[in-house]
Amino acid sequence: MTDAKAPTATADANPGFTPRVFSGIQPSGGLTLGNYLGAIKRFVEMQGQGVETIYCMVDMHAITVWQDPEALRRQTRELAAGYLAAGLDPTKSILFNQSQVSAHAELGWIFNCVARMGWMNRMTQWKDKTSGKDAEKASLGLFAYPSLMAADILVYHATHVPVGEDQKQHVELTRDIAAKFNHDFKVDFFPMTNPVIEGAATRVMSLRDGTKKMSKSDPSDAARINLTDDADTIAKKIKKAKTDAEPLPESFEALADRPEAKNLVNIYAALAGMTKDAVLAEFAGQGFGAFKPKLADLAVASLAPISTEMSRLMQDPAEIDRILGQGADKADAIARPILEKTYDIVGMIRSRR
Ligand code: TYM
Repeated sequence: MTDAKAPTATADANPGFTPRVFSGIQPSGGLTLGNYLGAIKRFVEMQGQGVETIYCMVDMHAITVWQDPEALRRQTRELAAGYLAAGLDPTKSILFNQSQVSAHAELGWIFNCVARMGWMNRMTQWKDKTSGKDAEKASLGLFAYPSLMAADILVYHATHVPVGEDQKQHVELTRDIAAKFNHDFKVDFFPMTNPVIEGAATRVMSLRDGTKKMSKSDPSDAARINLTDDADTIAKKIKKAKTDAEPLPESFEALADRPEAKNLVNIYAALAGMTKDAVLAEFAGQGFGAFKPKLADLAVASLAPISTEMSRLMQDPAEIDRILGQGADKADAIARPILEKTYDIVGMIRSRR
């Protein structure tokens, strides 16, 4: 029963590389409960454990789909406010936005020349977003997206990447790119990064359809909880969440064919920091009439302080920009030497004298 444990980063898989955590979130819309439980909450749990933690707003990934410039600026600050409000401490973690550290884009180009078209074609997120003729209209950036993501990670020699389940394939591709680079240039330069997909809520599902991922792009707002929702809205959405008429069982396995029920139990476990079995031990035999109000109370108690703190932070955008600027300086200091060494391995002359 490891559900309730804080995610871990250990050196095991990459002897010779200092363990380092990196992850990122796109500022392409509001934050959902999925982003919070699958990513931010775990980012916060990983900080201050003796391993460097680097977190990013991936604004260059966001523009692979057109973004209104003013909205992008606002959403980037809002995401930063979300990280900070959830407990990310800029004295313990490095926080910045991707475009501030140009090493990401520079290494991304080198990886575009290492990665193969066939690898990109096999990415399920690419296939999902571009079925049929849509592929012709997609940006070239959207196709190359996973290569830039590999650069985000490897420009810090990051060994551990906490993500939700939907990003597993992209982190695996990062390993393929690292392995091909190391092989092509006969070096042992990039580590084999591990995805860290742990906890009760690595795949939070829609409140309207337990077989679909909770997503900021779902046309129905009732399908997700936004970090900016007020207490009333959160409680209403949970009350209206799709469920079934059966009581909760004693074991999690018995929920296998009840996706909506399973999702709500997972959410409860992740918010409470309990194992799923412990949640069921408490609620077995009870129906959703009893469970949902408890879940709503828990969700409001967990999320309302974050939402309030986000609004407070958003009143002072200059302070957010200052924190990001400082984070970018620290990130740059790690990334630049790794990028320069990469240029050297590839055979580029860098001296200006
Ligand atoms: P993005 O912005 O779609 O999502 C950010 C993080 O939230 C997780 N997540 C979820 N987890 C559980 N349940 C859900 N319903 C849910 N929805 C989203 C995602 O798994 C992710 O961890 N490609 C990435 C951003 C990225 C990145 C990186 C991540 C760019 N470079 C380098 C890690 C390392 C993305 O689009 O995530």
